[in-house]
Amino acid sequence: MTIEIVYGAVNPHPELADDWRILDKTEQQRASRIGNPLARTRYIKLRALTRRLLAKRLNCRPDDLTIAHGAHGKPFLPDHKFHFNLSHSHDQFALALSDAGEVGVDLERFNPPRPLHVARLARRCFANDELAFWQNQPTARQWQVFFQFWTLKEALVKASGLGIQAGLRNARFDFQSPGHPLAVPEHMGRPEDWCWRQHNIGQASLVSVVYRAPERQVSWREYADLTGDHK
Ligand SMILES: CC(C)(COP(=O)(O)OP(=O)(O)OC[C@H]1O[C@@H](n2cnc3c(N)ncnc32)[C@H](O)[C@@H]1OP(=O)(O)O)[C@@H](O)C(=O)NCCC(=O)NCCS
Repeated sequence: MTIEIVYGAVNPHPELADDWRILDKTEQQRASRIGNPLARTRYIKLRALTRRLLAKRLNCRPDDLTIAHGAHGKPFLPDHKFHFNLSHSHDQFALALSDAGEVGVDLERFNPPRPLHVARLARRCFANDELAFWQNQPTARQWQVFFQFWTLKEALVKASGLGIQAGLRNARFDFQSPGHPLAVPEHMGRPEDWCWRQHNIGQASLVSVVYRAPERQVSWREYADLTGDHK
């Protein structure tokens, strides 16, 4: 049983024919509705990559996989006991693959956000002790610490598949001690049912993963080129 995170940059090369062919009708329709050409290319390439990597693990053809969507939009595999989740920010992505249990991943680029915006989000989403910890950081470190809490909460929300209504202030993390969350919203069970890890990509990005399974090693793999050897 493994948790694997594949991360990298989306190849901006506009050649899409091989990718387009393996998407299903719903994915092709969604892609066609994306007006921005760069966003459309990224969507097509990431969906195709997701299918290729899943197919490799499940020993089937990428275009044979059925990908359904939960009530709040989380993509899942109705025909397999295998979990995945995708996150993207600008040209970067992280894809979590898990045969151990539900998984959520969040990637954020370290763009120092506007201080007032961050303070408002922190007050809205952080638990009281997280907020106090964040407020006690030197100003120069506050935005990094913000992303450390934020990506963990996003990853938990995404693992649950419930979206924002999962109850972010009721989820508590100590990002200095990887392992279990300190608390999760009541409907998500016990904190010890869930585990988390964080990984820096260079100086510029942070990825958090949350999964529902006993603690295990998480492997982090860089995928250098989406048009590489996974056709
Ligand atoms: C989808 C959602 C869960 C995350 O969105 P995001 O952080 O903007 O974007 P990410 O790149 O991390 O994730 C997007 C991908 O997650 C997947 N996804 C979509 N809905 C999802 C859901 N309900 N649960 C899990 N994954 C979902 C999709 O693969 C999507 O990629 P696609 O649109 O290319 O198909 C968003 O709808 C949401 O509710 N975010 C919470 C916002 C918030 O206030 N968080 C506070 C944290 S403190």
